[in-house]
Amino acid sequence: MRRKLVIGNWKMHGSLAANAELLAGLRAAEPFVCDTAVCPPYPYLAACVLALQGSHIALGAQDCSAHEQGAYTGEVSAAMLADLGCRYVIVGHSERRSLHGEGDQLVADKARMVVSKGLTPVVCVGETLAERESAQTEAVVKRQLSAVIHTLGHCVPQMVVAYEPVWAIGTGRTATPEQAQAVHAVLRAQLKAATPHADGMRILYGGSVKPENAASLFSQPDIDGGLIGGASLKAADFVAICRAAL
Ligand code: G3P
Repeated sequence: MRRKLVIGNWKMHGSLAANAELLAGLRAAEPFVCDTAVCPPYPYLAACVLALQGSHIALGAQDCSAHEQGAYTGEVSAAMLADLGCRYVIVGHSERRSLHGEGDQLVADKARMVVSKGLTPVVCVGETLAERESAQTEAVVKRQLSAVIHTLGHCVPQMVVAYEPVWAIGTGRTATPEQAQAVHAVLRAQLKAATPHADGMRILYGGSVKPENAASLFSQPDIDGGLIGGASLKAADFVAICRAAL
């Protein structure tokens, strides 16, 4: 039995004051039946560590460098995120892939770096609308996951996978529970071919998850929680989504 996981990806939103209010709202609703985490922008991580002291809500980051350390201006290392107390690091989000040109191998290298620091990479995969409409969904997500599987090797069970169809991100257009489950089953089968521990691994769905659709998505057999964007910025919505993750 997999314990569900709901992660809020705040993207480039927030302020010291807004984050404090949001976290206070989440803390007031604890405990949750699922595991939960929030991924604020880098500059706010330290303040969020303090605000989450004594809470079961974990902290994550939205990205990291594939490099250990060095002359990489503007980059943040996985070691720094571990130092701060992060537990999760999102890698390969479609916005990183499309807006910053991140390819499958770079995403895999980031995942390996995250694992090497004892953190959990949340590896995002997902197809564009054009790829879905040309029946490429399965091939695309398998290709994206395959790079990570080969790079992580025996550490594959340490990652969380997030299926985020690009056409569903921030659009209000959610994959139906059946559409999402079909892809999650493909990903589970791919993980099973790579590790005997695949049944214990979590595969999250992301893309316009809201309080209204969370329960039907999370009730699918291979959907183990969600990666939430817009709805994670409102305490009441994020709490409702976490409560739907039974
Ligand atoms: O990583 C979460 C994400 O991309 C989904 O965003 O706003 O559609 O929930 P949103």
